Amino acid sequence: MEQKSSRIRRPRLVETKTLPNPTEYVVALNGEYRDWAYDEERCQENRGKWRALFGKPDSAPMDLEIGTGNGYFFAHRATAEPDRLLVGIELKYKPLIQSIRRARREGCVNARIARYDANCLEDLFAEGELNHVFIHHPDPWPRKRDWKHRLIQTEFLELLWPLMRPGSYINFKTDSEDYYDWALPLFENSKFKKLRATRDLHKSEWASENFVTHFEQLFLQKGQPIFYCRFEKPLV
Ligand SMILES: C[S@@+](CC[C@H](N)C(=O)[O-])C[C@H]1O[C@@H](n2cnc3c(N)ncnc32)[C@H](O)[C@@H]1O
Repeated sequence: MEQKSSRIRRPRLVETKTLPNPTEYVVALNGEYRDWAYDEERCQENRGKWRALFGKPDSAPMDLEIGTGNGYFFAHRATAEPDRLLVGIELKYKPLIQSIRRARREGCVNARIARYDANCLEDLFAEGELNHVFIHHPDPWPRKRDWKHRLIQTEFLELLWPLMRPGSYINFKTDSEDYYDWALPLFENSKFKKLRATRDLHKSEWASENFVTHFEQLFLQKGQPIFYCRFEKPLV
């Protein structure tokens, strides 16, 4: 796999083509959904060319969802915003296929998905290729010794900054108070500018516009608050 630049942590993904016993989801990735979903090798070929792949000009807005899970938000967003392009990144095959299948069933032609590790986003996107970035309920890694695995890190925000277009934002939601308390200062100490922050999204002024994701629903049913913030890459 070609590497575009070096980072502190570069997890290696098992290559899809080498899997000894491919599941139905692995088969679907390079079969039925080949034109809509990209494995870890094919998606790198799209770097800097995603809009062209969609047949859209460079001015077309293109957003990214990291960790689509089973794709309720992914399909909702693609449907609700047909004039925007949406790329999803998901590590696991089953949610990856569930996400793109859901979007296709809704008739979306503005969504694609990649099997890749979001820690290595620069392999997939060139400078200024992305607009908004959605990170909803990322794995919380609650044990202290695993905090290094959390997606939101200073290095990650530094990696994301040049990839995003000015005037775009990162939407971050989590059910983990501990992760929120970890992530918020990292955002605040980055170059991104705070637009929103609340420790209880569903009691906030942004509740009515919020789409409840699959994981969010599970935590809401337990009566737990959802922690939310939005940070922008300003225009100037
Ligand atoms: C807790 S689930 C949340 C799913 C969805 N966003 C929601 O709110 O229902 C986190 C998802 O992120 C994916 N994921 C975890 N780490 C990832 C990474 N480094 N790159 C891409 N996807 C990742 C997992 O496979 C999982 O599907």
